[in-house]
Amino acid sequence: MVLCSPVLGALLIIVTGCLCLSMMVRHRRPQEPPLDKGFMPWLGHAMTFRKNMFEFLKGMMAKHGDVFTVQLGGQYFTFVMDPLSFGPIIKDTKKTLDFIKYAQELVLKVFRYKPTDGVHQIIHSASTKHLMGQGLENLNKAVLDSLSLVMLGPKGPSPSASSWHEAHLFHFCYSVLFKAGYLSLFGYTKDKAQDLQDAEELFTKFRRFDLLFPRFVYSLLGPREWIEVGQLQHLFHQRLSVEQNLEKDGISNWLGHMLQFLREQKTDVCMQDRFNFVMLWASQGNTGPTCFWALLFLLKDQKAMKAVKEEAARVLGEARLEDKMSFAFTLSALKCTPVLDSVMEETLRLSASPTLVRVVQKDYVLKMASGQEYQIRCGDKIALFPYLSVHMDPDIHPEPTTFKYNRFLNPDGTRKVDFYKSGKKIHYYTMPWGSGVSICPGRFFALSEMKIFVLIMVMYFDFELVDPDVPVPPIDPRRWGFGTSQPSHEVRFRYRLKPMQ
Ligand code: HEM
Repeated sequence: MVLCSPVLGALLIIVTGCLCLSMMVRHRRPQEPPLDKGFMPWLGHAMTFRKNMFEFLKGMMAKHGDVFTVQLGGQYFTFVMDPLSFGPIIKDTKKTLDFIKYAQELVLKVFRYKPTDGVHQIIHSASTKHLMGQGLENLNKAVLDSLSLVMLGPKGPSPSASSWHEAHLFHFCYSVLFKAGYLSLFGYTKDKAQDLQDAEELFTKFRRFDLLFPRFVYSLLGPREWIEVGQLQHLFHQRLSVEQNLEKDGISNWLGHMLQFLREQKTDVCMQDRFNFVMLWASQGNTGPTCFWALLFLLKDQKAMKAVKEEAARVLGEARLEDKMSFAFTLSALKCTPVLDSVMEETLRLSASPTLVRVVQKDYVLKMASGQEYQIRCGDKIALFPYLSVHMDPDIHPEPTTFKYNRFLNPDGTRKVDFYKSGKKIHYYTMPWGSGVSICPGRFFALSEMKIFVLIMVMYFDFELVDPDVPVPPIDPRRWGFGTSQPSHEVRFRYRLKPMQ
């Protein structure tokens, strides 16, 4: 009897343990999407997903079809891959699918910023007022001034500017766009040369943070990198602090508007500093990489380059410098560039790969366009990855991996908006900016900024690939799902300022 009691006790523990485990282990219920938990307990498919999200989802789609639930690090994500069924998810009038709480968790982890009530709304209302319409026209002028400063220097171009310079195309685009975008939105001091130098230094740190970013989000950094990320966060909080801002002129109305809201809300000053970092990240992380792809596609497609140059000459006339210091540029021309618009839309189709995530607030019925319905559990996440399900769908975009500069042009030269899937007209035929409540509020500004840059390049500069036969580099697979993709390696090019009056 004495011997029996420990054995019985152990048996009891094992049986209870097994019972608990079987309750914890998730099984597919009737009417739920196919469930793929992977082999690793809790982790599920996390490692394969993080290594190459695009290939992983392609495999899952081939295995399960348009809807499937996968386990990723203890969480269950239902991916919906049929764009004809996106409507109810994106519109979700009953607010069963939440974006804000999900975003709050992310910015707390990555930027140590804890948003207060109303911040999401103020970001969108400030952007509607200052990054679109009349507000955007004022900001375009600031962007042009900043691009002139960054690309021509504080004293105008030096005599050597007309000689050939060799550089890395990705770094060049990212650095120019970052500095010009940062100065336009975050303002100047009285010393422009110093501002330029500060922006250059900030870019170096930004790029370092950017490189660590995907693995940071996935909690895959080594101990040294964790420390480095902490230091970088601290540096950005300091460099973008409200205190430093006091010394600046011309902070954009966009940022000013949002900071005023935070002040009125009596948000802690350190949180205001962190908010600035979030805005720097959101506003500068994608424009430079997108411009890299745009210029590279143009350099690889002489017909496209010719069409853009001809359009630029038509709407902007001859390139000249104002007071030998800045680009003379008629900003209203930005409204009359259908060819460049198509180039940018095509570039974004090929390079922008956001993931749209919504947290299911209560049990939800997912209604597909086919009429099929699926039960999705409260607490799970619904995710869209339009790069694979829309941008690369050959039914919607024939030869989807090929850059076709006129893909978004009608034969009469107007913007093409009619695209079809399975013979049905499709509303979401590209989604570089996300959609619904989380749509990028800076999209009009981003497009203007990138277009001004590309137009300056084709009008004012000669530029060419060092090796014209160099292939377009593959996309860095670790960055899928994080906005604009980046190349796996650099591309060398050379450029010079065209001689002019
Ligand atoms: C090529 C350039 C850009 C691309 C491809 C892009 C793309 C996106 C995407 C996909 C989202 C939504 C993310 C989600 O659903 O979770 C987003 C959010 C955001 N973007 Fe952009 N963006 C670009 C440039 C800009 C610029 C220039 C600004 C500001 C000046 C900006 C400001 C923001 C902000 C503040 C958010 C967060 C919105 C929210 O919390 O609801 N973006 N962007």
